[in-house]
Amino acid sequence: MRIVRSLSGMQSLSSRWGGRSVGFVPTMGALHEGHLSLIRRARRENRIVVVSVFVNPSQFGPREDFSKYPRPFAADTRLARLAGADVLFAPSAAALYPPGFQTWVDVSSLSQPLCGRFRPGHFRGVATVVLKLLNLVRPSRAYFGEKDFQQWRVVRRLASDLNLPVRIVACPIRRADDGVALSSRNVYLSPAQRFQAARMARALRMAAGLIKSRGSVSVALRNVKRVLRSIPDCRIDYVEVADPETLAPVSVVKRKAVILAAVRIGPVRLIDNRLVTVGR
Ligand code: PAF
Repeated sequence: MRIVRSLSGMQSLSSRWGGRSVGFVPTMGALHEGHLSLIRRARRENRIVVVSVFVNPSQFGPREDFSKYPRPFAADTRLARLAGADVLFAPSAAALYPPGFQTWVDVSSLSQPLCGRFRPGHFRGVATVVLKLLNLVRPSRAYFGEKDFQQWRVVRRLASDLNLPVRIVACPIRRADDGVALSSRNVYLSPAQRFQAARMARALRMAAGLIKSRGSVSVALRNVKRVLRSIPDCRIDYVEVADPETLAPVSVVKRKAVILAAVRIGPVRLIDNRLVTVGR
């Protein structure tokens, strides 16, 4: 596996892809089984696999955990190689955001609700860095996890609105045995907080079941909130049932919906979601 740090090195490689298919997995490192499943899928579906590791400062708010975000680069390199990456692209923030940088990408409506309300500017940072990375790597397919449901929708819209020659591939959420969605930040949960995180995951699964069997959004939301409010040291950012395409809130589910939650348990902000299809 080749490690590329400079933008010119990446551009020179990607200008020589020729007709070969290239799968790209953008990450912020601290790779876990969720990322590895994306890399393995990219491996199965493409001739060349590129993984990026870049903790993107522009998607963190001023009081968020940018400086504390885990950066185990040596372990990431090993894991990416074992999962089948050919190239690990690890640019610096100074190279991606040089002095004078001032061009931002705003996927306007999809960035507003849910996490957008609690993390102003977050999706602008995500959309901007994803577009920059796609321009540098020039992949045929780019792989995103459905855990970050809103991010996936924002990126898919960005690719379609800007006519990017890439297919955005969504991959299912990977969960630990206790049901908690895998996330790089989970390492900061104490055992007691981890237990509570598992309760949140169970509550969402049950709520999805309730919506499916009874179509009842309000009962489902009430149940999840009751569980979350009983968790010590837990702050709810949101629990909502939304249209999976537009992310607008729905009160009656006709066909498909997604129930999404973001909570802080102790020091960790957890997000999770469940897709529901009614009538089958
Ligand atoms: O999901 C992530 O890890 C990041 O938001 C991404 C897509 C790599 C952009 O920084």
